[in-house]
Amino acid sequence: MRKLFITGASGFVGQALLPALKLEGYDIAALSRKVRDTSSGVRWVLGDPVTVDDWQREVDGAFGLINLAGEPIIGKRWTPEQKQALRDSRVVTTQNLVTAIAQARQKPSVLVSASAIGLYPKNEETELDETSRPADDFLGKLCQEWEDAAKVAEVHGVRTVLLRIGVVLGRNGGALERMLPVFKWGLGGPLGSGNQWFSWIHIADVVGLILWALASGQVRGPVNAVAPNPVRMKDFASTLGKVLNRPAFLPAPSFALNLVLGESAQVILDGQRVLPKAALQQGYTFRFPELEAALRDLTT
Ligand SMILES: NC(=O)c1ccc[n+]([C@@H]2O[C@H](COP(=O)([O-])OP(=O)(O)OC[C@H]3O[C@@H](n4cnc5c(N)ncnc54)[C@H](OP(=O)(O)O)[C@@H]3O)[C@@H](O)[C@H]2O)c1
Repeated sequence: MRKLFITGASGFVGQALLPALKLEGYDIAALSRKVRDTSSGVRWVLGDPVTVDDWQREVDGAFGLINLAGEPIIGKRWTPEQKQALRDSRVVTTQNLVTAIAQARQKPSVLVSASAIGLYPKNEETELDETSRPADDFLGKLCQEWEDAAKVAEVHGVRTVLLRIGVVLGRNGGALERMLPVFKWGLGGPLGSGNQWFSWIHIADVVGLILWALASGQVRGPVNAVAPNPVRMKDFASTLGKVLNRPAFLPAPSFALNLVLGESAQVILDGQRVLPKAALQQGYTFRFPELEAALRDLTT
């Protein structure tokens, strides 16, 4: 059986990914900072990815590595300490994984490392693809550092895929879980001006892209993990209202979001129109290319 070693597997994406990987027949070892129940067929390894420690031995002999660890971007205000935690939980984690690759006698074939569309400039009408320039803001620089750390794996002969993930829509977590109660009460609506672009992806396609990146011997470098049809925020709100059969015209103004979330409100208020050029060009077929079908699937 091919072994995979995963960081951040206990999170929102990881919880959807693990059953799919098991179905594919992989032998799974997953790192967590907490003791986890092993009855699910996953072997949990206790350790902190930010700390150099025994967990790094798991890399030796693994077929593939999946790197999903990261302090949540939204939720806490971006104080200097929080910014450090956001950075370290991604950049230092990735550096520690790559150090383990360098030390491994039997090196992995592939590393699939998470990144985010926060890499790209915000508030533009331009369509962004994997060749677009990175932004000069906090998230842009963070994603660049994160990807630069992962790319060093290529020096050790490991095919490296940088998955630039958009806003993941799924059950039990992520953006949709936060929005659903408000929309169900009929109190939902566009966040901010509503004109900003919203580059979403159904969680089944994040999982699909990870499986595809592992299995393909060819895919490497940046891959935008977004649906091929991004929408404006106001259209996202009206489509969600439509599938829930609720009104969705009450806007949440920018100043209120800024007040609650501080600088991290940027993620919601400053849109990006990102396209999955690399995935489409290399033959990935999206299960949910259209928003309405994606939202119907996730809300019924
Ligand atoms: N969800 C999205 O919409 C989205 C969008 C763009 C990019 N991404 C990126 O994709 C990756 C997976 O996303 P996700 O939504 O599944 O993430 P998540 O649920 O927020 O977190 C993933 C895991 O990271 C570990 N973690 C959290 N804080 C940490 C810290 N301070 N130090 C070390 N490890 C920490 C936790 O594992 P343990 O507690 O078990 O250690 C957690 O279960 C993340 O890197 C995220 O930034 C996600």
